[in-house]
Amino acid sequence: MISTSNISMRFGQTTLFEDVSVKFVPGNRYGLIGANGSGKSTFMKILTGQLDQTEGQVSVGHGCTLGYLRQDHSAFDDQSIIDTVYTGNPALWKLHCEREYLYSKDELTDEENDRCSHIEEEFGDAGGYTMESEAARLLIGLGFAEDLFEQKMTVLQGGFKLRVLLAQALFFYLPSCVWTGLNQNAGVDSDNIMDAAGSFQSAPIHPCLDEPYTVGKFS
Ligand SMILES: Nc1ncnc2c1ncn2[C@@H]1O[C@H](COP(=O)(O)OP(=O)(O)OP(=O)(O)O)[C@@H](O)[C@H]1O
Ligand SMILES: [Mg+2]
Repeated sequence: MISTSNISMRFGQTTLFEDVSVKFVPGNRYGLIGANGSGKSTFMKILTGQLDQTEGQVSVGHGCTLGYLRQDHSAFDDQSIIDTVYTGNPALWKLHCEREYLYSKDELTDEENDRCSHIEEEFGDAGGYTMESEAARLLIGLGFAEDLFEQKMTVLQGGFKLRVLLAQALFFYLPSCVWTGLNQNAGVDSDNIMDAAGSFQSAPIHPCLDEPYTVGKFS
């Protein structure tokens, strides 16, 4: 379970929200709805530990994993589509890069040789031997042909970049999945996701905004 207790967030004199107390219970799917600029991404960044709240506490249950669908669609423009998906699991991505580096070298130092003898086990335990097929499964499921996998993210239009970022968020399997930025740029994807999520039961969370700011449960 993820819960917040009396979370408030201010940027300078501006209060985005205050005293937000909410529980996200396993097995449910929630949506957070609010006007542009009302603080949805800020709230998600607080939940995922990317930003510190001004007041209050966030509690993430033991063994709970948080994934985050990024809204900055151009952040991975220099990377290939498949590598962007891999980065959804930072620990595995780091091992993958280290392994690729070691195996690309003609000569290894003693230290690197020693590292080689350990890295395979770590890589296997982290899911390294199935990462390619898992990432491919996600991408194919989201409508990408295999010959696109090694292409740079820059070749994609916004909606397709978002699909890759969705695959990135899903790559590290998410018992608790946080989605943000599913707006008009998401196109057909957000429709599909919302369809898949089924009916939506909304429940307001102490708004401190002119516009409605709602967290709701998908069932
Ligand atoms: N680091 C920051 N410093 C100052 N102001 C910030 C910072 N981050 C966000 N803001 C401001 O906080 C407000 C909320 O931003 P946020 O990105 O959370 O909104 P949002 O609800 O996700 O909007 P959108 O629907 O456009 O994605 C905006 O006015 C934004 O300019
Ligand atoms: Mg946002």
